[in-house]
Amino acid sequence: MPKNSRIFLIALVCSVALAGLSYAAHLEPFRFAPMPKQEVQTQGKVELGKKLFFDRRLSGDGTTSCATCHIPEQAFTDGQDISQSYPTTRNWRNSPTLLNIAFQKFLFHDGRVTSLEDQALFPMMSAFEMNQNLDYIEEEIRSVPAYVEEFAKTFGDGDTTKERIAIALAAFERTLVSVNTPLDRYLLGDKKALSADAKKGMDLFQEKGKCIECHYSVTLSDDKFHALNVPENPAYKDDPRYSATMRFVAKVYHFAEYRDLKEDPGRYLITKEKKDWKAFRTPALLDIAKTGPYMHNGVFGTLEEVIDFFDRGGGQGNTVLKPLGLSLEEKRYLKTFLVEALSGEEVPFSYPQVP
Ligand code: HEC
Ligand code: HEC
Repeated sequence: MPKNSRIFLIALVCSVALAGLSYAAHLEPFRFAPMPKQEVQTQGKVELGKKLFFDRRLSGDGTTSCATCHIPEQAFTDGQDISQSYPTTRNWRNSPTLLNIAFQKFLFHDGRVTSLEDQALFPMMSAFEMNQNLDYIEEEIRSVPAYVEEFAKTFGDGDTTKERIAIALAAFERTLVSVNTPLDRYLLGDKKALSADAKKGMDLFQEKGKCIECHYSVTLSDDKFHALNVPENPAYKDDPRYSATMRFVAKVYHFAEYRDLKEDPGRYLITKEKKDWKAFRTPALLDIAKTGPYMHNGVFGTLEEVIDFFDRGGGQGNTVLKPLGLSLEEKRYLKTFLVEALSGEEVPFSYPQVP
C-alpha cells in the first residue's frame, strides 16, 4: 500500500472511531467538531444561531437569509453553478456546502478566512450577498424582544452584538455534519458496507487516479490550494455584472490591476504569490453527490464531468495534474465510490421559528 493511502486510512479510521463514539452516545448528528478555544458549544448558541441563519433581517432589503444560498434540502448549497446574489447584483462563485464545515481549516474557495466566527460577518457585509450594515443589524436584532431575551439566556445579558451573532451562527454551523457514511462503516470493519464496484472505485481513488494525493483525512481534503486551471464559467461572458463583482473583490484585496482582471485569480488574491495564481482550496468530498454543481465556479454540472477533467490531466497549462488514462469502466467505478461510499445518512432537519 503506498504511503499516502496508509496516512489516509489511518486518519480516517481515527476520526471515524472518534465519531463512532458520538454515534453510540446519542443519535444527534454530531461528530466531535473542532472548537475554537475561547468558545464553548452550548445548545442555546446552536438554537439561537439556527434562528439567525434563517432570518432575512440579516440582509439589507430583508429578502435574503443565509439559507437562501445554503438550503438544508440541498445539502446547504443553493444548487446553482454560480450562487444567488443580492437583488440587481451577481455573485461570482459557487455556494459551497456547509456540511462538515467545522473540519475545514480554511474557509472560502480561496481560504481567505480561518474561523467560522470571522466568516459569518462576510456575507452580511458583502455588497453582492446580503448587503447589510453590521452596526444596523445589531440594532435591528435588538428591536425584537424575543431575541433580546434569548441573547440574555445564552450570553448572560441581552446585548445583541455582531460578534455574538457570529458566535451563534458558527455554533449552529458546527452541528452540520455528514453522518455514518458507508466509507465510515467500511473502515470501522463492516466489509459489506461497500459494493464491489465502490471498492474498485476506492482502489482507483487511491492508486491509478491519485485522488488521494489531495483528497485525504477526515473530510477528504488536504486543506491546501492547487492551481488545476479549472476553466472559467462561460456565464461570466454573458453578464458584465459578474466581472463587476470580480473587480470589486479584487480591489478590496488590493489587487493593483483590478480593472484589467479577466479571470478569477483564486488564492493569489490573498497571498499575491505566483504559485497561487488560480489556485483554489481542495474541497471536502463527503456527501459530494448532493453538492453539485462542482468547482469554485460551478463550471461542471456532474461528477462525470469532474472525473473527465481529472482524467484528461486538468485544465490547460496546469503543472499539477497529468492525464490518467482511465477506461470508461474505471470512470464509472470512481463515480460509484464518490456517490455510494461518501453519502451520509439522511438527517431530518427541523426548521426553527424565527421571531
Ligand atoms: C447570496 C448567497 C449567499 C448568502 C446569502 C450567504 N452565503 Fe455563504 N457562501 C456563498 C458563496 C458564493 C460562498 C463562497 C464564496 C467564496 O468562496 O468566495 C459562501 C461561503 C460560505 C462559507 C464558507 C464555506 C467553505 O466551504 O469555505 C460559509 C461558512 C458560509 N458561506 C456561511 C454563510 C452564513 C453563515 C451566511 C449568513 C450570514 C451565508 N453564508 C450567506 C453564498 C452565500
Ligand atoms: C493536486 C490535487 C488534486 C488531485 C490529485 C485531485 N483533486 Fe479533486 N480537487 C482539487 C481541487 C483544488 C479542487 C477544487 C478546484 C476548484 O474549485 O476550482 C478539486 C475539486 C474536486 C471535486 C469537486 C468538489 C466540489 O465540491 O466542487 C471533486 C468531485 C474532486 N475534486 C474529485 C477528485 C477525484 C475523483 C480525483 C482523482 C481522479 C481528484 N479529485 C484529484 C484537488 C485535487
